[in-house]
Amino acid sequence: MATIGKDILKASQLLEQGKLVAIPTETVYGLGANALDTTAVAGIFRAKNRPTFDPLIIHTYSIEKAREYVTKFPPELEKLAEAYWPGPLTILLPKKNVVPDLVTSGSNNVAVRVPKHPLALQLLKGLYFPLAAPSANPFGYISPTKPEHVNKQLGNEVDYILDGGACEVGIESTIVGMEDGKVCIYRLGGLSIEQIEKIVGKVNLKINSSGDPTAPGQLKSHYSPIKKLVIGNVDELLKRYDNPGVLNFGDRNYDVYTYDLSRDADLTEAAANLFQGLRSLDESNVEVILTELLPEIGLGIAINDRLTRAAAEK
Ligand code: TXA
Ligand code: MG
Repeated sequence: MATIGKDILKASQLLEQGKLVAIPTETVYGLGANALDTTAVAGIFRAKNRPTFDPLIIHTYSIEKAREYVTKFPPELEKLAEAYWPGPLTILLPKKNVVPDLVTSGSNNVAVRVPKHPLALQLLKGLYFPLAAPSANPFGYISPTKPEHVNKQLGNEVDYILDGGACEVGIESTIVGMEDGKVCIYRLGGLSIEQIEKIVGKVNLKINSSGDPTAPGQLKSHYSPIKKLVIGNVDELLKRYDNPGVLNFGDRNYDVYTYDLSRDADLTEAAANLFQGLRSLDESNVEVILTELLPEIGLGIAINDRLTRAAAEK
């Protein structure tokens, strides 16, 4: 098991030595390493058992700093960065040569983000390199939203876990980029489509499910519990399955083990509780997890994307 603590100096010293440190962000915990050090980055892929065709996001602390790693920052994407950094927004931009190909899986674009968490920002400001950090979970499994989640799954792989408490947003960042002069969304996340369109107008959604590993971030089966997750009318499903548990949104009551995402049907609260809920049910003694899709508005769209991928056949 790794040590969990709030020692930023220790975290930065380990990172300077090329070690892996789990870092808190407002979305989920990241598995961080020096993004400019290929050996350190290779350690991330090894620890997560992640295929190297799945590229990594680099994290830094300001727009000015981000410019050091990219050759171009189109005005539309800059407007988004000004509006939402620090925050749950990742931007795909043409990379400079300092960013190793391993980080981008050979792509000319690098994904950049400024996380909104005081400990992460303080850490990043003190480092002379950006941090490559995917979510700190084994590839394909549920993302961690608490330090204990990281320790349970990757405790033997990381050298330190920086404790920033429970993640406020609870689902990963929204990923945007430009294609043919238009802003595109490649992954739904903690920043809603409405929030993005408020700044840049209508965007293209490119978030299709795919089993194709050449479509990064769009793998069909992802965020998955070990137990079977079934989406549908829960009252109907309860008649069909033995020993079920329910992931519930709203104030309904069931006489089986139930994890409430939000009794008040609040989508922000549900996002923050989503991965903890899947984990709690996965670790309980139920045999199957039943749930319904949430309203397709605001964060509900990103939550439904996660649920659908978590329920996909592996
Ligand atoms: O909220 C988040 O984004 C969290 C925290 C830790 O920052 N990070 C995160 O990283 O979710 P990860 O690696 O679990 O998911 C990042 C996704 C991947 O699916 C990857 O394929 C896509 O971003 N991605 C990264 N770099 C890319 C690139 N250069 N081109 C296309 N997709 C990219
Ligand atoms: Mg991930």
